[in-house]
Amino acid sequence: MEPIRKVGVVGCGLMGSGIAEVSAASGYPTVVRELNDELVARGRAAIERSLARAVEKGKRTPEERDAALARLAFTTRLEDLRDCDLIVEAVVEDLATKTELFRTLDALCPPRTAFASNTSSLCITEMAARTNRPDRVLGLHFFNPVPVMKLVEVVRGVLTSDETFERGMAFARSLGKEPVVCRDTTGFLVNRLLVPYMLDAVRALESGLGTVTDIDKAMQLGCGHPMGPFTLLDFVGIDTTYRIAEIMFQEYREPRFAPPPLLKRMVLAGFHGRKSKRGFYDYSGETPVPARLGL
Ligand code: 3HC
Repeated sequence: MEPIRKVGVVGCGLMGSGIAEVSAASGYPTVVRELNDELVARGRAAIERSLARAVEKGKRTPEERDAALARLAFTTRLEDLRDCDLIVEAVVEDLATKTELFRTLDALCPPRTAFASNTSSLCITEMAARTNRPDRVLGLHFFNPVPVMKLVEVVRGVLTSDETFERGMAFARSLGKEPVVCRDTTGFLVNRLLVPYMLDAVRALESGLGTVTDIDKAMQLGCGHPMGPFTLLDFVGIDTTYRIAEIMFQEYREPRFAPPPLLKRMVLAGFHGRKSKRGFYDYSGETPVPARLGL
């Protein structure tokens, strides 16, 4: 198996910053690309905050934090990723954007470079088929918060070679993660089960079954979930969940994947969850309180 000596990460938002952090903390020189200097600064700050938190929690030593930061390089130029052995993309969940990115990287990188998508719902085979290295494209789907969540879904597209797939499994393990084998199906394993659950919670709220706080409390205390479904929706992002649900509904045409009307209205109103300080809860004060949703 060809070794992975250097990693590229494209996109340094919620997921990309986490992937870059664990990659650098696991010993890989890691080049992170964002679109402009402002996004680079924001991504770098998110990684620094997360590493500081890991030190605070006793998960890493200050020396490990410094070593991880020293392994990170930031850029706005895709050309700076050309000598990476593996490039993981975590850009917006849009097929055209991701395929265009892989086509550009395909022209820049040597044949040995493997491309991984952190997509949660788009088709790996479609992204692979648009490049001249379809055997070297796979899915590596991480979970939020990436430094904490142990799982990586490793996705084999129709065209992914066995070697590329095994490289992906080995890479996930080298990050201290537990990989699971996934076929290239929309939503893979986790979102196939999780998305209908979260959408059902919204439908329960719409039909007056209970309040946001009571439904959250019920699932947290009744089932031992770390977060109730609305806290989780706010955490994942309302806009992100809406986009994933739409993609899953288009693929399966099953009502359980159809985004409920309230979700769409929240996206339109800018209630994107924790990141916009408003979702099912309002995060502008010291402790979150249920948001006014016009119900
Ligand atoms: N680096 C390393 N470890 C860290 C860390 C960091 N930056 N920050 C926190 N930790 C560790 C803590 O030390 C702690 O470990 P311990 O239990 O061994 O002491 C653990 O992580 C939990 O941290 P906290 O105590 O600070 O936080 P909470 O106990 O409140 O847990 C949570 C926070 C981990 C987010 C928890 O609420 C949770 O698991 N929520 C569910 C998250 C979830 O379901 N994510 C998946 C979403 S779906 C997705 O991502 C897919 C996408 O496609 C939609």
